[in-house]
Amino acid sequence: MIPEAEIKKKIKETAEKLNTDYSGKNPVLMGVLKGSFIFLADLTRAMGIEHEIDLIGASSYEGTSSTGEIGFTKEPDLVIRNRHIILVEDIVDTGRTIVALKKYMQSLQAQSVKICTLIDKHERRETRMNVDYSCFTLEKGFIVGYGLDYNERFRYLPEIHDLKL
Ligand code: IMP
Ligand code: MG
Repeated sequence: MIPEAEIKKKIKETAEKLNTDYSGKNPVLMGVLKGSFIFLADLTRAMGIEHEIDLIGASSYEGTSSTGEIGFTKEPDLVIRNRHIILVEDIVDTGRTIVALKKYMQSLQAQSVKICTLIDKHERRETRMNVDYSCFTLEKGFIVGYGLDYNERFRYLPEIHDLKL
């Protein structure tokens, strides 16, 4: 559905926006495990400004967790207070995960928190929220590859595929 070369091109464009917006700010690219690992690896190398990397693991919500509360499988290593945080996600779907992570970063007194996602999927969005940077938008469907999985399968594929169930 999206070939490797097109992904590379979009990541370069996104990195250039980040370079402009975060020049001299030494932001933290906070990758959300596990799906963002390939995107994060390419994004960090496409950026031309100083920045740091960290990883956060969020356990998937169960049932109707509209409270925005999530558990963590990995806490950040860096001190978040007074830092500019860029949450790096593979895909924003309902928005629950990323909204909860944003709130968590704010509770740790980050100086700013923005969202950067490879895919901004609109179909099931629940909360009114703003995605700050996205490489691609998807109206609906389920995709795999380039870090994105279906029950842990297909993450390794270098391009993005439409999963036909
Ligand atoms: P949400 O935005 O809190 O609903 O959850 C986003 C998470 O759901 C992503 O980080 C993915 O792990 C998973 N997800 C949602 N849509 C897809 C998809 O189309 N392919 C693969 N994973 C998806
Ligand atoms: Mg994920």
